[in-house]
Amino acid sequence: MPRMWRPVTTNCCKVESGAVIGSLSSLSRCRPTRTEFSKTVTGMSSFRRFSTYSDVMSTSSSARFTEEQFGFAPGLVAFRVSELKAATHNFSSDYLLGEGGFGTVHKGYIDDKMRFGLKAQSVAVKLLDIEGLQGHREWLAEVIFLGELRHRHLVKLIGYCCEAEERLLVYEFMPRGSLENHLFRRISIGLPWGTRLKIAIGAAKGLAFLHGAEPPVIYRDFKASNILLDADHTAKLSDFGLAKMGPEGEATHVTTRVMGTHGYAAPEYIMTGHLTTKSDVYSYGVVLLELLTGRRSVDKTKPKNEEKLVEWVRPYLNTSRKLRYVMDPKLGGQYSVKAAKEVATVALQCISPHPKDRPRMSTTVDNLQALLNLKDMAGTTAHPLLLRQRPRPRQPRPMATRRSSHSAKTK
Ligand SMILES: Nc1ncnc2c1ncn2[C@@H]1O[C@H](COP(=O)(O)OP(=O)(O)OP(=O)(O)O)[C@@H](O)[C@H]1O
Ligand SMILES: [Mg+2]
Repeated sequence: MPRMWRPVTTNCCKVESGAVIGSLSSLSRCRPTRTEFSKTVTGMSSFRRFSTYSDVMSTSSSARFTEEQFGFAPGLVAFRVSELKAATHNFSSDYLLGEGGFGTVHKGYIDDKMRFGLKAQSVAVKLLDIEGLQGHREWLAEVIFLGELRHRHLVKLIGYCCEAEERLLVYEFMPRGSLENHLFRRISIGLPWGTRLKIAIGAAKGLAFLHGAEPPVIYRDFKASNILLDADHTAKLSDFGLAKMGPEGEATHVTTRVMGTHGYAAPEYIMTGHLTTKSDVYSYGVVLLELLTGRRSVDKTKPKNEEKLVEWVRPYLNTSRKLRYVMDPKLGGQYSVKAAKEVATVALQCISPHPKDRPRMSTTVDNLQALLNLKDMAGTTAHPLLLRQRPRPRQPRPMATRRSSHSAKTK
């Protein structure tokens, strides 16, 4: 039986009685303003997320902040800005790991002298861009959810910083970065079939854990860039800024302002704002399709009829023969035909237009785990037409540039 959990609120942002975690709307009152420090460090964020303003004031979740104010989860370290500056070489761009809607993410190192009991380790420090869309609310949701929920397939939040106007998050460092980088970067060599399956199962376990919590947690932002990879390709979910507590008791859904990422969000959620765990299952199905095809959920560089992955690929998913046409050419035909067919079947169920027809994540974990031992690799080659359509490999860059990009990678 999963442990009953409740989010706690924070000393660094007082919330009035009756405010609701579902929308976190009242938290905007303690939204910090942009300081010289964050102005210099944070560049422009490229938003791929969408949102509508309609239900900003929604009061959907029954979980309420009380007048009592608690600290964050006890295991979290409250860092000072000066400590995180020191850990990241003053947020140097040489240590930039990436940038998302929240702000920039920098690699850092914490030595064992920084805090008693905190082991020396590499970390990833996320710096809130105060002028970003959801900045402060997402920061708070992240600390609340990730502070409470610990699991092998959720990235570990080590601590946070909430000093004056600055809001930062400190995570365990994930050496292999995001799944997005591995699947879609032109220069990446791609991931072998077994690794893709391992990642699919790990991410499914993370979601199954969230959905099995009491009350359930709806992740709401499941996508390739939010799946981070450990050294051995263990998948961990990151970014809980949009997470919500799911329906309780008799309720079938929670109503929210529509947020998420184009190409991943479930159609009924976009239409109605009604959110259930099955909305996450849809997004999971989209990521399975990305793992199979090596294509992004939305790719504007493709011909019009191929731009939206779900629409384009759906007719190819029900037979092994058709599936062959859409498998990622980077696999070079090295995949189990039976397992790929099963994964396609699971994906098809997950992206069903009817939420009730989508499987539970726990069932999906079982179904995918059964495929781990299938090794019928022989005789599968990528379809020659597809191989011809692939962009030509890029010409090698001049030596000087290559050397510098290599050193950036190995930091
Ligand atoms: N804990 C971490 N360890 C290593 N790299 C990380 C870590 N967290 C984030 N990153 C890197 O930083 C990048 C940006 O992450 P971030 O979550 O801010 O944005 P995103 O997921 O790309 O976009 P979005 O804001 O839409 O979620 C990731 O793609 C990943 O490469
Ligand atoms: Mg992210």
